[in-house]
Amino acid sequence: MNILFMGPPGAGKGTQAERIVDQFAVPHISTGDAFRLAMKQGTPMGLKAKEYVDQGLLVPDEITNGIVRDRLLQDDCSKGFLLDGFPRTLQQAEALDGMLADMGRSLDHVINLKVDRGLLLARLTGRRICKSCGSTYHVLNNPPKQEGICDKCGGELYQRSDDNEEKVGTRLDEYISKTAPLLSYYEGKSLLREVDGEQDIDVVTAEIVSVLRGSN
Ligand code: AP5
Ligand code: MG
Ligand code: ZN
Repeated sequence: MNILFMGPPGAGKGTQAERIVDQFAVPHISTGDAFRLAMKQGTPMGLKAKEYVDQGLLVPDEITNGIVRDRLLQDDCSKGFLLDGFPRTLQQAEALDGMLADMGRSLDHVINLKVDRGLLLARLTGRRICKSCGSTYHVLNNPPKQEGICDKCGGELYQRSDDNEEKVGTRLDEYISKTAPLLSYYEGKSLLREVDGEQDIDVVTAEIVSVLRGSN
């Protein structure tokens, strides 16, 4: 199954992806995670991406498209994938269509997690992530059992450098001007399904599962 998750920063794409990939046995492809890993490793691509990510701006399409193309060609994507945070521009969406066409594949589901802008800042500034396994928490909405420690692996939790008020504002502006227009692109292809991302995390997961299983 070839799945795409859309939604503004903080909508819950990563949180839901962690759960859905377990159930549907497809790899989770997050361009944001790929950039953060490359930045941590200090690769040439990571250093270039850092100039944009640190400001809350989108990384140029030619860098981003190359990462996704390489990833989709790996063996574990042969039975499907879950894309999180890609595409984010019309040019990326068209590039993705081209990559998939070259592989004789296409998207099965595009799910848009809808969350009002007013809720996103609190979600992002309260987010904490595990340094070891990448699991996502929230200090109020989804706290770990022990403060600062990952429930799953015991790793240390940290806060993303772009999860502060100023960067969140820039990220939301980028989303509105460059990514939101993609919703009508996928609507035009009859692929788009909206899920209310303001509900409890478990309720959102259940709704996504029923869309993916075609029972809704
Ligand atoms: P990326 O890492 O993709 O960041 P983002 O799109 O800003 O999205 P987030 O990861 O912040 O939000 P999310 O929807 O995953 O929310 P989460 O589940 O964590 O991208 C980072 C940067 O990389 C970009 O700014 C850009 O520079 C670059 N980049 C990435 N992709 C790119 C591309 N394609 N092109 C160009 N540049 C690109 O949840 C957030 C918080 O809310 C958590 O604390 C969670 O616990 C909590 N929460 C989740 N669901 C709920 C719920 N239902 N109720 C209450 N709380 C909830
Ligand atoms: Mg995310
Ligand atoms: Zn962990």
